Amino acid sequence: MKILVCTDNSKHSMKALKMAARLAECCKDKVETIDIVHVYHVDLPVSDFHSTVTYIEQYEFLHKFKKEEGEKILEAAAQVFTGVDAEVNTILKEGHPAATIIKMAATGNYDLIIMGSRGLGGLKKALLGSVSNAVLQEVQTSVLIVK
Ligand SMILES: Nc1ncnc2c1ncn2[C@@H]1O[C@H](COP(=O)(O)OP(=O)(O)OP(=O)(O)O)[C@@H](O)[C@H]1O
Ligand SMILES: [Mg+2]
Repeated sequence: MKILVCTDNSKHSMKALKMAARLAECCKDKVETIDIVHVYHVDLPVSDFHSTVTYIEQYEFLHKFKKEEGEKILEAAAQVFTGVDAEVNTILKEGHPAATIIKMAATGNYDLIIMGSRGLGGLKKALLGSVSNAVLQEVQTSVLIVK
């Protein structure tokens, strides 16, 4: 079995990681691979006429920051699988989170995707966040939404 776990470093995605680790422990010989993905997105900076820093410099700074942040998020996520007897890979991608996860699901040959019901977004009215909602709607793979 090959599992994809999605993390944005939120409380819910931590629960999703722990659920994946529990599954791997329960089904020792059945879960072969766990891929942990974090998708970062760099918002284009607002151009400021008076700024001494150029638009490109601002973009490069933001890009470097998000990439390094993503690496740290994945490093911490992988710790959850310490002692788990499966191949654990961390995957850092840049792009739109939902579209990137949907594409991975279509090409990655996963048996299961595990994600949180919510993430870092502030709006708590809907049961699902926009990323988990879009993934659930679009993919052919089974999805486990952790509450
Ligand atoms: N950038 C991301 N990279 C990887 N997984 C993500 C990312 N963003 C969200 N997820 C996954 O989707 C789950 C739900 O997050 P989602 O973003 O849908 O909710 P939200 O942040 O509360 O809402 P919204 O983003 O719509 O404001 C997370 O727990 C995580 O598993
Ligand atoms: Mg979100």
